[in-house]
Amino acid sequence: MSERSITPLIVVVLLLGTLLALRSLNPPASPPPPPSPVSPVTVLAPEMVPLVTGNEPITEIFTRAGCPVCHLVPGIPGADGRVGPPLLLATTGPMRLADPAYRGHAKTVHDYVVESVLEPGLFIAPGYPADTMPTWYGAKLSARALEKIASYLERQGETTTQ
Ligand code: HEC
Repeated sequence: MSERSITPLIVVVLLLGTLLALRSLNPPASPPPPPSPVSPVTVLAPEMVPLVTGNEPITEIFTRAGCPVCHLVPGIPGADGRVGPPLLLATTGPMRLADPAYRGHAKTVHDYVVESVLEPGLFIAPGYPADTMPTWYGAKLSARALEKIASYLERQGETTTQ
């Protein structure tokens, strides 16, 4: 092989070598970490909630069901959630039933509570987000648990605590 045909070959090999060396010195920047999965909406997955029989003490009924994550419930320790309205149904219940926008079927505050838990989409408390209150409580709370919840909540108002 003549010297004339070898020289360009050497140049090409050297150039390639240099390029490769530069690449390994300067590895492409790793992609930025994905945004942290913190959602502005509180999520409560059904798997996180055990069945509530209604034989538990009232505090346990609420805490097992996860209501305190989103609601203030008077008399229930740690129940100071702010996602949904404070559960002062002795005060707010009559307001909901009298609301011209109310489309549910309840005639009493007790029934309004039951309805709100079983069919939250029927009426959205004004000023609070729709599609946030879980829709699967009918499968988690026994009729007894739901009765106790409603009986408890209909007695809680802005001035009463028990
Ligand atoms: C993930 C958050 C979340 C959880 C958990 C949750 N709620 Fe709610 N709830 C809401 C939101 C938001 C609203 C207001 C919008 C609406 O009416 O659906 C609401 C509305 C209500 C209302 C109507 C209140 C009113 O002022 O009209 C009642 C009653 C209620 N929830 C009871 C409960 C009970 C009892 C539990 C537990 C068994 C519970 N919620 C669990 C978010 C939640």
